[in-house]
Amino acid sequence: MKYFTTTSKASNRAADCVFVGVYNRSKLGHGAADIDSASNGAIRDLIKSGDISTELGRCTVLTNVDGVKARRVAVAGLGKPSALDAIGFRKAVGACTKALRDTKTKQILNALTLESVKSCSPYYLARHSVEAISDVLYEFNQMKSGRKKPPMPLSSIGHSVASRGDAAQTDRGAQHGDAIANGVALAKDLGNLPSNVCTPSYLARTAKKLATGNGKLTTQVLNESDMKRLGMGSLLSVTAGATEPAKFIIMKYKNAGSAKPYVLVGKGVTFDTGGISLKPGASMDEMKFDMCGAASVIGTMAALTRMQLPINVTVVVPAVENMPSGTATKPGDIVKSMSGQTIEVLNTDAEGRLILCDALTYSKRFKPEAIIDVATLTGACVIALGHHRCAIYANNDKLQEQLFEAGNSSEDLGWPMPMGDQYAAQLKSNFADMANIGGPGGGSVTAACFLGKFTDGMNWAHLDIAGVAWKSGAQKGATGRPVALLYEYLLSNAGALP
Ligand code: BES
Ligand code: MN
Ligand code: ZN
Repeated sequence: MKYFTTTSKASNRAADCVFVGVYNRSKLGHGAADIDSASNGAIRDLIKSGDISTELGRCTVLTNVDGVKARRVAVAGLGKPSALDAIGFRKAVGACTKALRDTKTKQILNALTLESVKSCSPYYLARHSVEAISDVLYEFNQMKSGRKKPPMPLSSIGHSVASRGDAAQTDRGAQHGDAIANGVALAKDLGNLPSNVCTPSYLARTAKKLATGNGKLTTQVLNESDMKRLGMGSLLSVTAGATEPAKFIIMKYKNAGSAKPYVLVGKGVTFDTGGISLKPGASMDEMKFDMCGAASVIGTMAALTRMQLPINVTVVVPAVENMPSGTATKPGDIVKSMSGQTIEVLNTDAEGRLILCDALTYSKRFKPEAIIDVATLTGACVIALGHHRCAIYANNDKLQEQLFEAGNSSEDLGWPMPMGDQYAAQLKSNFADMANIGGPGGGSVTAACFLGKFTDGMNWAHLDIAGVAWKSGAQKGATGRPVALLYEYLLSNAGALP
C-alpha cells in the first residue's frame, strides 16, 4: 500500500474516491463543503431531498459529481456536530470503505482527517483511518474452494491535511497504522483458521517464518521433552489427552542494546474442548479461537518488527490442544508447576491458567522490564465486561494505568480490574498448594489471582480478552484485538510516539 498526504482540496484531486462527511442539521464537514461549492450545492440538495444521510455509520456514494475530479465521492454521515470522537471517526471511515468494497477503487483520498475529532491528533487520525479501512477490507476465504470474488484493488490511501505542518505526523500515523493493520490481519488469520490447520506446530512455523530474513528477530521452539526437562508439569497436564504435540514458542526481538525486554505471553490453546470437564456442544467450534492471545502477541511482534521499533521484546507462546482421552488429566489430579507449586486440577476446562503459569515462570529468566500475558481466559470476563473492553489486571498500578491509557489512545479499549488476597483465598485447596478454579463469583478475577501466584518479583499485567478476541453470529470471526493496544503500549515505552 502506498500512502500520501495532501493539502489539495477534496474537489481538486484526481482519485478513484474521496471520503467526506456531513453532520446533522446539514452542517458540512470541510471536504463536503468544498465539494458542495465546486458542484453548485449538490451535497446540500441531496441532504435536503433525503438522498444523503447524516447519521453516523451511514454512507452515500456519489459518482461523477460536477466540478469534482475524483470519480466517486463517499459521503459519510457524521452525526451530531462537534461530537465526533475516534470511535465515530473510525465508524465513518469504515462505512465509506464498506460502501466501496465491491467497486474497482484503487486510490482513496480520505478528507475526513480534516474534521476535528475529540482528543485525536493528525497522527492518530491517519492511524485510525488506515486501520479502519484495512479492518473492513479484511477477508478470510483461504479455506473456501471455487472462484473467489476479487478483492477491491486498493493500492493507495491519501490523507488530507489543513496545512503542510501536519504532514509529517500524518505520514507517520499512516505508517504505524499500516504496521498495526498488518499485525491485526495476521492475528485474525491465525484466529480464523480451524484447529485442524492452526495447530501448535502451525503457530510455531508461523513464528519461525516471521524471523526468517529479519536479523533482529529469532524464534526458538521447545518440544514436549524440553518442557518435561524444564519441569513444566502444569502445562504438560493440559496436553496430556491430545495427540497433537504441544509447542513452546519463544520469539526474541532485539533492537535496543542491552535494555531489559518487554515480555508478551499469549495463551495458545488451539482448541479447547474443556478436556474431561467437557464443554457443552453449542458453539464449541468457537473454541478454535482460544489461541487468540497467542495470535495477538505474534501479530504485535509482526507489527513492531515491520516498523523496526527501538525496543527489546520477547514473545512467549505456550501452545497446546485441550482434549479428553484415556491419557487426559482428570478432575482432582494434582500437578506440579515449573515454579514448584502444586495445583489441584478441579476442572480441566480451566486450562489456560495451567499453561500460562509455567510460561510466566519460564519468563522470569528474561528479567523483564514488564511482562504482560494475553489470554481468552474466562467466560466470566465476558459476563463482566461484554465485548467492548478487555479486562486489565496488574500487580503494579502504574503498569495497569499505562495499559488502560494505551487502550484509550489506540481505541482498543480495556478496563482496570481488581485483585487481592480476598479473591486469591477462593483458590484454596485441601490437597495441594492451590486449586485451579476459585468457585462461583469473580471468575475472571480469581483466574488473574491464580496467575499472580507465579509472577512474584515481576512487573506483571494480565489481559483477559475472552470478550473481545472474536465476534460470534453472522459476523463470526477473529478481531485481531488487542494488537493495537499492545503496539501502543510498546510504542510509548520505546519513546516512539510523536
Ligand atoms: N477458553 C475458555 C474461556 C472462554 C469461554 C472464553 C467462553 C470465551 C468464551 C477457558 O479455558 C475456560 O473454559 N474457562 C472456564 C473456567 C472455569 C472452568 C473456571 C470458564 O470460563 O468457563
Ligand atoms: Mn477451558
Ligand atoms: Zn480455554
